[in-house]
Amino acid sequence: MDYKDRTFLVTGAGSGLGGATASMLIEQGAYVVILDINEQAGKEKEAELGVNSRFIKTDVTSEEEVMAAIELAKTTFTGVHGVINAAGVAIVGKVLDRDGNPHSLELFTKGVTINLIGTFNVIRLAAQMMAKNDPTEGGERGIIINTASIAAYEGQIGQASYSASKSGVVGMTLPIARELARYGIRVCTIAPGIFETPMLSELSDEARESLGQIVPFPPRLGQPNEFASLAGHIIENVMLNGEVIRLDGAVRLTAK
Ligand SMILES: NC(=O)c1ccc[n+]([C@@H]2O[C@H](COP(=O)([O-])OP(=O)(O)OC[C@H]3O[C@@H](n4cnc5c(N)ncnc54)[C@H](O)[C@@H]3O)[C@@H](O)[C@H]2O)c1
Repeated sequence: MDYKDRTFLVTGAGSGLGGATASMLIEQGAYVVILDINEQAGKEKEAELGVNSRFIKTDVTSEEEVMAAIELAKTTFTGVHGVINAAGVAIVGKVLDRDGNPHSLELFTKGVTINLIGTFNVIRLAAQMMAKNDPTEGGERGIIINTASIAAYEGQIGQASYSASKSGVVGMTLPIARELARYGIRVCTIAPGIFETPMLSELSDEARESLGQIVPFPPRLGQPNEFASLAGHIIENVMLNGEVIRLDGAVRLTAK
């Protein structure tokens, strides 16, 4: 899919991986609607990206708010041609804590609701719009890129909710790609390893450095622009569809 005159919804674009992808899309000449629950971060990103972007405060789990973002994409720009689902939260909690108390069900549900159900909510509402687009010469009407995590495959102790939510994103990639193929809408998912974003901000510099050292090559944390670059390749390469791509420097997480 070309970028010019195309509009992309980028969730979680106020920060980290979504933010870098929004910047890449603007550089390539696309329009971007920034969907983020963090108003300050979203407004700052809009100011940084300029007139071809708009921020709208959006909780990805809300039908009403996602529909308002889609409406904004239609009235301000050129409709909806692509979606980058990068909004997410890192939930940490053991099934039994050190005193033997069970994991909060509310906390478990929060991870699955935002990371999995929120992703699906944006997919279903955006797909409804993209299915009505005029097809390109090659028959394309849209592109959806989701963000899972390598924790979908080798989740660590304390990641039950996070891993469950991300493996849900991995699991739904192929069936949705198969279904939306008839409309010319592709669906891919990126499963990042450990990336240097505000999601890791609670860790000390030392902890981040040592996390980077466990990556076989390159022995460092991933950079958000490397995620954005893969998202760009997926957008451009029409043959990529229904696939989950690990972007992790060959790291495999251990139990702890
Ligand atoms: N950073 C990593 O190492 C890493 C690794 C694997 C996967 N991921 C995934 O990549 C995605 C992006 O993470 P990041 O590292 O850029 O984190 P981040 O915290 O920098 O950015 C996440 C953004 O999502 C927004 N958000 C959270 N809940 C939302 C909601 N309900 N509705 C709308 N926006 C919401 C936040 O406000 C924030 O701006 C997440 O899905 C995360 O799980 C990150």
